[in-house]
Amino acid sequence: MEIEIIVADITQCETDAIVNAANESLLGGGGVDGAIHRAAGPELLRECQRIGGCPTGQARITGAYRLPARHVIHTVGPVWRGGQGNEAELLASCYRESLRLADEHGCRSIAFPAISCGVYGYPLDQACRIALDTVRQIGGLLRQVERVQFVCFNEDIAALYRQLLGRKAA
Ligand code: APR
Repeated sequence: MEIEIIVADITQCETDAIVNAANESLLGGGGVDGAIHRAAGPELLRECQRIGGCPTGQARITGAYRLPARHVIHTVGPVWRGGQGNEAELLASCYRESLRLADEHGCRSIAFPAISCGVYGYPLDQACRIALDTVRQIGGLLRQVERVQFVCFNEDIAALYRQLLGRKAA
């Protein structure tokens, strides 16, 4: 499985699935959640309303409507509370569950934002390490997913991912 690090706006990604860093209501918000809902249009919110929410660490899949992607996978990352509240396992679960859903729906490619690294305050270096480790751990078990993109909103995050990717490879 191929891992790519890119600096882009995830709403522009043409991967089969893009992942949304949502909240448990699935009713939209700011950050990447707000950007995805704005770009997808109101039908996305209507489908999310029908789903009725998603617990932290889990994921739900919807259509993508006006977005170039085929699916949006909404996952709810943990709010960073200092690391004693099982945050690391919940964050890993977001990546695992998103990949599982993408694979079940025949997605060949999936784009992730840096889940929990914005409003939810997760320390970037720890979150990126968890993201890369989790994707590597289950990458070999996936039947359809061949390409995973980590879509960074700025060069700093991309540099961190690349550093971690290089270190692991070395
Ligand atoms: N494309 C790619 N990445 C983006 C984009 C975008 N258009 N917009 C923001 N990001 C990045 C942020 O810079 C951050 O690195 O996504 C990462 C996640 O930040 P948030 O969107 O704040 O998500 P999160 O920290 O998981 O907080 C989720 O914020 O927007 C609300 O409804 C959402 O309540 C939920 C909470």
